[in-house]
Amino acid sequence: MQANRGDPPLRSTHECTKESGYNKVTNSAVLTAEDNCLNFADDTVFLSVRDSFLGFGFNENNIRDQYVFDGGPGRLVLPKFSERNVTAISGLDILVHLFMGEEAIPVDSVVRHLGSRCFLELQELKLVQVDDKGAACWATVRVEPVNNLLISADRSPVKLPLRPDHVYRSWDLSAQRYAQIVPSTKCERFLDVGCGNGSVCLGAAQNFARFATGIDINPRALRFAEFNKKLNGIENVVTYCGDLFAAVQSKVFDRIVSHPPYIPSLVNSLPFKEGGVDGERVSTNLLRGIPGHLSDGGEFYGYFLLSDRIGAPAEVRLREILGVDGQELDVALLVVNEEPLAQYLLRKAGPDPFSAENEQLKDACRKLGITRFLHTVVTIRSRRGSAPSTLRHRAVSWQTAAAMADQHTFTR
Ligand SMILES: C[S@@+](CC[C@H](N)C(=O)[O-])C[C@H]1O[C@@H](n2cnc3c(N)ncnc32)[C@H](O)[C@@H]1O
Repeated sequence: MQANRGDPPLRSTHECTKESGYNKVTNSAVLTAEDNCLNFADDTVFLSVRDSFLGFGFNENNIRDQYVFDGGPGRLVLPKFSERNVTAISGLDILVHLFMGEEAIPVDSVVRHLGSRCFLELQELKLVQVDDKGAACWATVRVEPVNNLLISADRSPVKLPLRPDHVYRSWDLSAQRYAQIVPSTKCERFLDVGCGNGSVCLGAAQNFARFATGIDINPRALRFAEFNKKLNGIENVVTYCGDLFAAVQSKVFDRIVSHPPYIPSLVNSLPFKEGGVDGERVSTNLLRGIPGHLSDGGEFYGYFLLSDRIGAPAEVRLREILGVDGQELDVALLVVNEEPLAQYLLRKAGPDPFSAENEQLKDACRKLGITRFLHTVVTIRSRRGSAPSTLRHRAVSWQTAAAMADQHTFTR
């Protein structure tokens, strides 16, 4: 695939680390070397590791067929490796225990089942690390199969402390829903704003977009996205580090998609998921940029948490946010679930739902007039020349919302 036509000379991921806005937001260091993961080795090593994963059957179908899930999406119930019958272990088991079970595994088992070359290559890419004695090894990151892709992301925050620049895995429930609402019909210029580990824009580039772009404000997310690009050998995608549309300037796209951070919060200590008091801080700025970045006939699909407010239902506010520039855009809000303010905050609260912090958040939301939160798919279509519509529909499930968005069955 060729480079994007008319691309301005933009800064790529690797050029934008320390100067990115991300530091200012989180006050966290740009972590790369001390992460001790993801080494950008030669392309041949990436290719060989990819072939090994695929050769051992590390794909979604096999894993969903052969392993037990606890009902939570992407949560495998794996017996401890040490409790498994070693004679019945396969190469796939080793990869699953390492990269999805996040367990330390004896090096001799890994070498026996994956081969010494594969083991060395995994170390060369810094996907695995070996202890001082050379006896056990563990994965430095998660790797999950997503459609036909291998997607690395941060290890589970349950096992490691949650860091402010955490990079979501693709088997996370919200990431799966998001992937589901992105239509896979052919398109020319595709953009994912807040692309995280890059799985959605890489999937688009591989399957239906002529050229895909991913943007994220977190340099560490872009490091994963770039690594995943290499791991999957995908060329027709470019990633930029920056705040919303800043990196693509005035370029327009035929399909823009986004799953911005939207968890209501008084603080912004976890910018990959928190979206200010009402959860709409990033979503609002993103929506303001949509009119200027959709091509004629272009479409936007977002996975958002929005709110109804006293005298201002979400769809009316959406229209206001799009402003004069969005006058020619059709807007549809597909509401999958709605929760009264207090119920939502109670459900999202930690171990102490009546903590002072939660009460303060409730007061702050009430001051904004918020009555209920809505889990939604927002679709926007550019249809220059005809009177715009603003619609709100109930969808019985995320699957229905995805199908409605894909087929435009909500229109007018
Ligand atoms: C909820 S996560 C979604 C990640 C990924 N799209 C997924 O679904 O797994 C939100 C992402 O938006 C990014 N983000 C937050 N604020 C942003 C901004 N102002 N500009 C660009 N990306 C942003 C975060 O770093 C994070 O990767």
